[in-house]
Amino acid sequence: MRIFITGEKGQLGQALQKVLSEQGFTLLTLPHKYDVADHHIVQQIGDLSPEVVIHCAAMTHVDGCAADPDAAFRVNAFGSQNVAHACMRSNADLVYISSNEVFDGQATTPYNEASEPNPINPYGSSKRAGEKMAARYQRKIYVVRTAWLYSAGGNNFPTKILAAAKANKSLRVVQDEISNPTFVPDLAAAIAKLIKTRAYGVYNLVNEGYCSRYEFAQEILRLNGLADMPIEPILLADYQRASTVPPFTPLVNIQAAKLGIQLRPWREALAECVRS
Ligand SMILES: NC(=O)c1ccc[n+]([C@@H]2O[C@H](COP(=O)([O-])OP(=O)(O)OC[C@H]3O[C@@H](n4cnc5c(N)ncnc54)[C@H](OP(=O)(O)O)[C@@H]3O)[C@@H](O)[C@H]2O)c1
Repeated sequence: MRIFITGEKGQLGQALQKVLSEQGFTLLTLPHKYDVADHHIVQQIGDLSPEVVIHCAAMTHVDGCAADPDAAFRVNAFGSQNVAHACMRSNADLVYISSNEVFDGQATTPYNEASEPNPINPYGSSKRAGEKMAARYQRKIYVVRTAWLYSAGGNNFPTKILAAAKANKSLRVVQDEISNPTFVPDLAAAIAKLIKTRAYGVYNLVNEGYCSRYEFAQEILRLNGLADMPIEPILLADYQRASTVPPFTPLVNIQAAKLGIQLRPWREALAECVRS
């Protein structure tokens, strides 16, 4: 299968390259830096004749999106439309990577694949717009919603907690933001299975179970031999940032599980990340 990954240098893009090349897929590349929001990308991707495009490229800095919503929509919405247009022209399946932040976080039980999105910040709105605009161009689309991605050494929550633990005598971490920590190699392996199914639709792919940022930080410290580091639980209201945070956004995987695609519990995945 001939696959093109957008955002191939990002956290998920790199994990996908590893897992897909190990499984013998043919990975296509463009010989130059590209901008998915530039309409020339439609032709450039089309010229590669991909059979599947996995669209990971996005403006992922949530506070950066709040500071510059136009830039967020340019990349996450219109860029996704371009990628979907390229897929339509080359009859390629599209995997659109979306986010827990398409939800408003007011639920009391985890969001399933039929839950109604209602984004409350520019990152979430631009990702939701991307879902809709991409689906308008390419009906052969898997919308994969995921959350709280991390991998060994990436720029993510675990590495930030460990850096903060090194630099400080104690930490303050929010306890009322809740979702699913997801180990990127597990997500990449699940996507590699999903693209073989041709069962297009919306999927929640996250490590099983959920926790608060505070519990996630506690587990990161414990697994790194830093269980004695004091952490003070604080509230989102006490933590000033540019973006409004949807507080409760755990996702539950129902649809992919029916296809036999399930990710392990988040604590097991985190332990493996720390070991590696
Ligand atoms: N990280 C999370 O916690 C999380 C949670 C839920 C969903 N997601 C979604 O998962 C996907 C992958 O996330 P990630 O953590 O792997 O992100 P990442 O590490 O930030 O990687 C994003 C990639 O997209 C590229 N990119 C950004 N703007 C671009 C543009 N205009 N044209 C072409 N490439 C562009 C970046 O390249 P440069 O570095 O050169 O700009 C980077 O390689 C994204 O769609 C994100 O919205 C992420």
